[in-house]
Amino acid sequence: MRIFSGIQPTGQKHLGNHIGAIVRYVAGQDRGEALYCIVDLHATTVAYEPPALRAGLYDLAALMLAAGLDPQRCIFFRQSDVPEHSELQWLLMSVTAYGELQRMTQFKDKAGAAQDLVAAGLFNYPVLMAADILLYQTDEVPVGDDQRQHIELARNIAERFNARFGETFVVPRGTYPQVGARIMDLQSPTRKMSTTGGSPQGTVYVTDTPEAIIKKFKSAVTDSGREVLRGPEKPGINNLLEILAAVRGCEVQELEREFEGAGYGQFKLAVGEAVVDYLRPVRERYQELRADERMLEQTLAQGAAKARALAAPTIAAARARMGVGPVAPQA
Ligand code: TYM
Repeated sequence: MRIFSGIQPTGQKHLGNHIGAIVRYVAGQDRGEALYCIVDLHATTVAYEPPALRAGLYDLAALMLAAGLDPQRCIFFRQSDVPEHSELQWLLMSVTAYGELQRMTQFKDKAGAAQDLVAAGLFNYPVLMAADILLYQTDEVPVGDDQRQHIELARNIAERFNARFGETFVVPRGTYPQVGARIMDLQSPTRKMSTTGGSPQGTVYVTDTPEAIIKKFKSAVTDSGREVLRGPEKPGINNLLEILAAVRGCEVQELEREFEGAGYGQFKLAVGEAVVDYLRPVRERYQELRADERMLEQTLAQGAAKARALAAPTIAAARARMGVGPVAPQA
């Protein structure tokens, strides 16, 4: 079984990225042949500063290793080190409909928020994402809930290519966590926690100090009720229950029983403390790993060499089936 996922090296990574994606990457290492890619090319589709992009890449590589990615048990690499991603993107554009890309909600949100130029790369972002996944004959893609539409598009692209040019790609399946697929902002719990557009007080970063984490949870927005129970009018409490369930690896119902009669204040503090304990080892290991950029570069380069070897037969097959380049011997 082949598992693939990608993550952008932009901004500081938060509890949503950690619970929705990174901890599941770590688990994937025991379930199959896993590839994890830092997608630096995707990060060039919105306004950015080149030095910040590179620094963000090292931050994220160190964070993922600190969280438990083991380069001996997975292929961990940087997207731009494997040029086959960009080539396959171009090939897949011929089976992607313009109208499909226009319907992507992430494109509409980001294009709407752009200060000046809306880059063509932003429009074609989902095709590069499909290329990332399809290049490795991926079976499963662990992602958070906000990537559903992109995963569906990747499936459609694979099916359309296979129908038009002959069986070439495995049609991948997105996998989503049972709890924590959409961690919400602590200050505005009807909005997802995010690096762009969230509130700093409502976003818990993986490398936040324990004091900062406790402060953010203590000031989390709840509602005027008093019972720690899930409910349709209680987005703040629902979110905190989900976070605690994900961190402890238990069911929300167990928590509702445990906190029966406790006030919101006591509950919020308990969630904050649990998150501090949960993130502490990652933060501590991160400091050490981040200091060694040479090691990070070496790790990513070794991963890229393995990824390129796996990508080669797929890109050759796609080229051959599309009639691009010279006749391949075994096409
Ligand atoms: P990115 O970098 O925005 O986010 C990385 C992962 O974190 C998940 N996530 C969340 N999960 C739960 N709650 C949240 N509030 C939350 N916010 C983010 C995302 O769903 C994602 O799994 N387009 C992708 C990167 C990408 C990719 C790929 C993913 C490029 N190529 C191929 C999978 C396969 C993105 O922007 O993720």
